[in-house]
Amino acid sequence: KRPVGAPDKDLARPVTKVGVIGAGLMATQFALLFVRRLQVPVVITDVSAERVEKGVASIHSEIGKLEDKGRIDTDTANRLRSLVTGTTDKADFAACDFVIEAVFEETSVKQDVFREIEQFVAEDAILATNTSSLSVEEIGSVLAHPERLVGFHFFNPVAVMPLVEVVRTPQASDEAVSTAYVIARKLRKNAIGSADAPGFIVNRLLAKVMGEAARAIDEGTALTEVEQAFVPLGLPMGPFELIDLVGWKVAAHVQDTMSSHFPDRFYSSPNLHALAEIDEPLERDRKKRITGWSK
Ligand code: CAA
Repeated sequence: KRPVGAPDKDLARPVTKVGVIGAGLMATQFALLFVRRLQVPVVITDVSAERVEKGVASIHSEIGKLEDKGRIDTDTANRLRSLVTGTTDKADFAACDFVIEAVFEETSVKQDVFREIEQFVAEDAILATNTSSLSVEEIGSVLAHPERLVGFHFFNPVAVMPLVEVVRTPQASDEAVSTAYVIARKLRKNAIGSADAPGFIVNRLLAKVMGEAARAIDEGTALTEVEQAFVPLGLPMGPFELIDLVGWKVAAHVQDTMSSHFPDRFYSSPNLHALAEIDEPLERDRKKRITGWSK
């Protein structure tokens, strides 16, 4: 098979406006990174005006934190704030030459989003999905121009994690892939190329570790013991603290995706799913007691 690498950087399209679909945890972190590092207008959208407003407010607040820490001056903070807009009207994406989505992790939802956005953007606009484990090719199969879609997978916390996976489908154009690599560089991320295989590279490794950690609790070991057992591996946090960071539902979903593709290689724990279902504030407190960390 053709190895997945960075094509000629001269093929990259200039990016003058970025569109972000979704205004949740990941999407708002990208929007902040894009506006800060590319210094171009960034427009975000979601299913309701309320979610959009909340998303914009959280980006503004993060810009305020950068200012408080002295990372950016007041003029820059104000300029970055003015570059971020929110909308529920996809027509506001018309001038975007790069659009990335971070909506619910389900192929049909992502397909609907791209099908709709393709009606508004220019024919040569590049589209990107932040999916962590779904098939990029399948997501793009509904597009009139599937060659313009790449996988662009960030890690949480986006501002801190130095890596992004650039996922190339068999249909992807060199222009689309090159644009993703050039953007990654401007975002000061190290881009690694991945084939469009379930879990790409990072989640494949992570799902193995998480699966074995979850299997240990299913076998009767206390979760807190498993958490401490990760210290010798030199990882910055234990598996369950990491799951808490990325989101329990996201983590359980990644396990499901991997084990459905490779049932003999990946394990999906019933306990992980049970913990993922605990969402109420009081119950979350109980989850913390069960899991034993309380940062
Ligand atoms: N969001 C935003 N910024 C954060 C943050 C968060 N949740 N947590 C920490 N930071 C920032 C802090 O603000 C601080 O920034 P400044 O230097 O600007 O002040 C910086 O990170 C360091 O913070 P701390 O001193 O508190 O950091 P730490 O040394 O305890 O490290 C950590 C925190 C970076 C989260 C570290 O524990 C770590 O690297 N953990 C592993 C994270 C990881 O593996 N992520 C990948 C998850 S997989 C995924 O996301 C993909 C998927 O598809 C599921």
